[in-house]
Amino acid sequence: MGRVKNALFVMIAVTLSTGCTDTAPVADPFERSGELIALSGGDAGAANACIVCHGIEGEGDGKLTPRLAGLDPGYFVRQLELYEIGQRRHPEMEAIAAHLSWDARNAAASYYADREAPPASDAGGPACTAAARRLVFSGDPSRNLPACTACHGRDLAGAGAAGPPLAWQTAAYNESQLRAWRSGERYGDPQGAMGQVSRLLHERELQAVAACVAGPPDARDRREPRAASLPERRPDPRSGA
Ligand code: HEC
Ligand code: HEC
Repeated sequence: MGRVKNALFVMIAVTLSTGCTDTAPVADPFERSGELIALSGGDAGAANACIVCHGIEGEGDGKLTPRLAGLDPGYFVRQLELYEIGQRRHPEMEAIAAHLSWDARNAAASYYADREAPPASDAGGPACTAAARRLVFSGDPSRNLPACTACHGRDLAGAGAAGPPLAWQTAAYNESQLRAWRSGERYGDPQGAMGQVSRLLHERELQAVAACVAGPPDARDRREPRAASLPERRPDPRSGA
């Protein structure tokens, strides 16, 4: 409820300030219309203003609503298209996408691409087991599993339209998306890369990898979680485990 109130407050503030060029943070008219969509929801209506769920600066909610700040615009508009055609499922986002014209989508994408937002408050830092770190940075050639960094950038902070940032998103969001690909609910990425990757990960790895790629990109060491910082138990060759 606090969020909705905030959203309404900002909407009113923006409505009052749009006539006045020197107070607006965004100068480009195209991005300015993107800012208006973010704050007012455009044709999707005020209840669907992006900031209501994605945060005032597009930082995400620290849970299952992703960060939009800094997303590549090509990736951004493609996701809206996937929601619209049902290759990505989420009731609110499907309805919102259906109400946004191409121009509105592009304007919102270009607005968010330039945002720099602090991490969502409870996003947490990365936590990597040794095994998860290996998968993230080296993959596993024995099962043709490429490193996550091969497509998502060396620091996981993104690599263009076909490699969205994983750092900055939360472990919970990353995990929800891996599960959506694995079940076939999310699909439609050009090479089907994530469908394959998600199915090559064992169940016990999926959560560990999602946590390891989350958190700010400058946390380069990608620490062990406290509980798992003891040396990993080696399988006992005599037990065949
Ligand atoms: C009612 C809450 C809500 C509102 C309002 C909302 N979103 Fe979302 N949005 C979400 C959630 C939740 C997800 C993740 C859904 C999923 O799991 O696929 C999401 C996902 C997205 C994504 C995909 C991001 C990624 O990393 O793949 C984009 C792009 C997006 N929203 C844009 C917008 C825009 C633009 C607006 C405003 C016009 C908006 N959203 C308004 C809740 C919302
Ligand atoms: C061969 C390239 C490739 C590799 C390797 C790869 N990804 Fe991806 N990943 C993609 C593409 C492409 C997308 C965007 C798909 C789309 O547009 O729907 C994506 C999207 C994602 C997303 C969703 C991001 C968002 O904002 O919704 C997550 C989470 C993800 N990948 C996790 C991983 C993890 C974890 C690994 C390593 C185990 C990995 N990926 C390896 C290509 C790859």
